[in-house]
Amino acid sequence: MDAFGPTREDRFTFGLWTVGWTAADPFGVATRAPLDPVESVYRLAELGAYGVTFHDDDLLATEADRDKAIARFKGALSATGLTVPMATTNLFTDPVFKDGGLTSNDRDIRRHALRKVRRNLDLAAELGASTYVVWGGREGAESDAAKDVRAALDRYREGLDLLAQYVLDSGYQLRFALEPKPNEPRGDILLPTIGHALAFIGELEHHELFGVNPEVGHEQMAGLNFVHGIAQALWQGKLFHLDLNGQHGPKYDQDLIFGHGDLTSAFFLVDLLEHGGYDGPRHFDYKPLRTEDADDVWVSAAANMRTYLILKEKAKAFRADPSVQEALAESRVPELATPTLSPGETLDDLEKDEFDLGGAAKRGFHFTRLNQLALEHLLGVRD
Ligand code: GCO
Ligand code: MN
Ligand code: MN
Repeated sequence: MDAFGPTREDRFTFGLWTVGWTAADPFGVATRAPLDPVESVYRLAELGAYGVTFHDDDLLATEADRDKAIARFKGALSATGLTVPMATTNLFTDPVFKDGGLTSNDRDIRRHALRKVRRNLDLAAELGASTYVVWGGREGAESDAAKDVRAALDRYREGLDLLAQYVLDSGYQLRFALEPKPNEPRGDILLPTIGHALAFIGELEHHELFGVNPEVGHEQMAGLNFVHGIAQALWQGKLFHLDLNGQHGPKYDQDLIFGHGDLTSAFFLVDLLEHGGYDGPRHFDYKPLRTEDADDVWVSAAANMRTYLILKEKAKAFRADPSVQEALAESRVPELATPTLSPGETLDDLEKDEFDLGGAAKRGFHFTRLNQLALEHLLGVRD
């Protein structure tokens, strides 16, 4: 058996819109034919995935009759045993959403957006989803004159408060996960980073129902450290879900295969997820390259899972290596978990310390050795 072959226990999930992307971009038309969501379910199940996720509109990609599309999708789910842990709403493709959905300047459009989300919340609950993602790709502006950001945040909060109340009143077991992104398709998007989203959540009426769905590439587009963002979301109990993919630094949203961007960051991310208490699905939100054909799509889907499992193995070996444990201790990494004051001590007690300032200032932390060990594990020369 392939040591890096995925199983259902790995809980890998894919958006229908990922493998189903026909690769139309702002400069060119589609290079692949539309993919029937039912085929995606069967192909992903064969590859060892655990579940699929969807936007309301994804289901209508190849079948215009909503009821029929849902019935066929459900049939494929029950035939394969695939789950639907997450669902979301498309509030960005239709021209009506060109200035946003929940924060459009046009009140009628905001009311339409709420109806659209509510309808899909019903379907998400019916399919057993536990997370509802809110990605506000069009919630933003290109001109600071065009959007009253404080009013927009009021309307964002109003919309999310109403939707959370609806979930509670309906008895649905759903929680919301806000997905930050700095820009694209809008020049500037509201809630651009994990930090903005976490701060905003504190202002919501049912804040306990809200967490984040950070995407690797989105934080890296903003030049931020994704691993640090995920660590803070975990620390605040707000990592409800996440979007794994790859990105090469600050540029357009690449949505590469996981690990095909910043590989060192991907290694430390897997290490954190596997050893830091995240127990949700490992969800891929990537785009098969525009250069690829219909068969390559499945090669790329498999590559995401395989890369994750290889990195998981590497992270495990890194943690188990006695040289790494020694290096961690010499770098005083475990010492940071010790509270700065002992139980019962006060700030006054600090005055009793006999502190050798010169000696402490001289001590090196030896982080270079530690980082090199991580790199060598990643490069496969220390297994
Ligand atoms: C992006 C976004 C989207 C959203 C998805 C959920 O790459 O710009 O991640 O893919 O995650 O559409 O609404
Ligand atoms: Mn993206
Ligand atoms: Mn995403």
